[in-house]
Amino acid sequence: MYLSRKEEKMYSGEYGEPIRKAMEILVAIGDTYDAENLIEVKKAHVAGLSYKTHGDAGLEYIKILNKENASVCIPTTLNVIGVDRFRWEKLGLPEDWAGKQLQILKAYEKMGCIGSCSCTPYYHGVLPRFGEHIAWAESSAVVFSNSIIGARDNREGGPSALSAALTGRTPFYGYHLEENRLGNYLIKIDEKLEDVHDFGALGSYLGRLIGDKVPVFQGLEKSASLENFVALGAGLASSGSTAMYHAVGITPEAATLENAFGGEKPMETIDIGEKEMENARQSLTSASDGDVEFVSLGCPHCSLQQIKQIAALLSGKKVHKDVRLWIYTSIPIRALAEKLGYVGSIEKAGGTVTGDMCTVLGCPEALRFKTMATNSAKMAFYAPASNKLDVWYGSTEECIDATVRRRWEA
Ligand code: F3S
Repeated sequence: MYLSRKEEKMYSGEYGEPIRKAMEILVAIGDTYDAENLIEVKKAHVAGLSYKTHGDAGLEYIKILNKENASVCIPTTLNVIGVDRFRWEKLGLPEDWAGKQLQILKAYEKMGCIGSCSCTPYYHGVLPRFGEHIAWAESSAVVFSNSIIGARDNREGGPSALSAALTGRTPFYGYHLEENRLGNYLIKIDEKLEDVHDFGALGSYLGRLIGDKVPVFQGLEKSASLENFVALGAGLASSGSTAMYHAVGITPEAATLENAFGGEKPMETIDIGEKEMENARQSLTSASDGDVEFVSLGCPHCSLQQIKQIAALLSGKKVHKDVRLWIYTSIPIRALAEKLGYVGSIEKAGGTVTGDMCTVLGCPEALRFKTMATNSAKMAFYAPASNKLDVWYGSTEECIDATVRRRWEA
């Protein structure tokens, strides 16, 4: 791979050991994907910070980087961690686990990363611009940046995003190249999709069919909310390895069908009607009796609007005494929701609005819940294996209903 003179010096260690290690990782990735050179990136988002994924070895590695005075050189946000830094004790999460998790967070913050700890950094103002090259990890955020914003981003892992944050560079391959951003599959929607659970289910259903290809949606409503498009991307990226989609007349690189496919014909057309949507929704439920002990909402992390909706749905109701309702969002969005009274309403009903964390990357299994209800296709996809939970999948309204009754009544 071609390296500029400055990059050669970074690679040979003249800029210090952390930069040398980061360059070694980036060049190895570039060689694997036949990248001809590195390109500059303007923002990074580092994921893989949960103690569940980091482990003790990862914690040691980050501490070594601290000792070597590693420091990020571009605006770098952090993804979700495994606990809420202010509420882990109240939530009953184990002390040793939380302690290690907070050491990991501190070590990244010491490198200059912004500890906003969310998979939806775009809800609190961290936005790349159209056409900007970035190195964001977190698969749902990658789909958002490529599809909704039109930024140029690959599905980075934690180490590659951190390497980009330390050097300001990433290998020039994949979705940084215009030719790889064109659509492959045409998806014709002949069904009205109502909310995040419909959009998430559609994404999850298609992710299984199309793998890493780029779907082009025709027939999605322009008026669908931003949260619905976020859920679509998260579903696609969890069951498949999709990094972007187009929605004709909606997303910025798909003003027309011809734009989305670059004038080529689709590889295949997939029709989505009532039967497919029913399959899509049902395949995300793994529970069989009606019991619900845990209800978790906010995967990807909730927007302000979603917290407002939950507060309104809980109005005049009480969370069942044997049910935990945890809502996930970022600290900035939580602070705003608190100011506006939504957090107070939810707490009055018996729910908890958390910051920093989520079910999948946290350790709710320490509390021995068996059955969870959620409106998130991504959480429903991962939680059975990641958290040993049986899942009821449904709309936000159905989840709130289960919170009150402690039963799933589909
Ligand atoms: Fe975010 Fe955790 Fe879901 S990182 S997308 S809330 S699995």
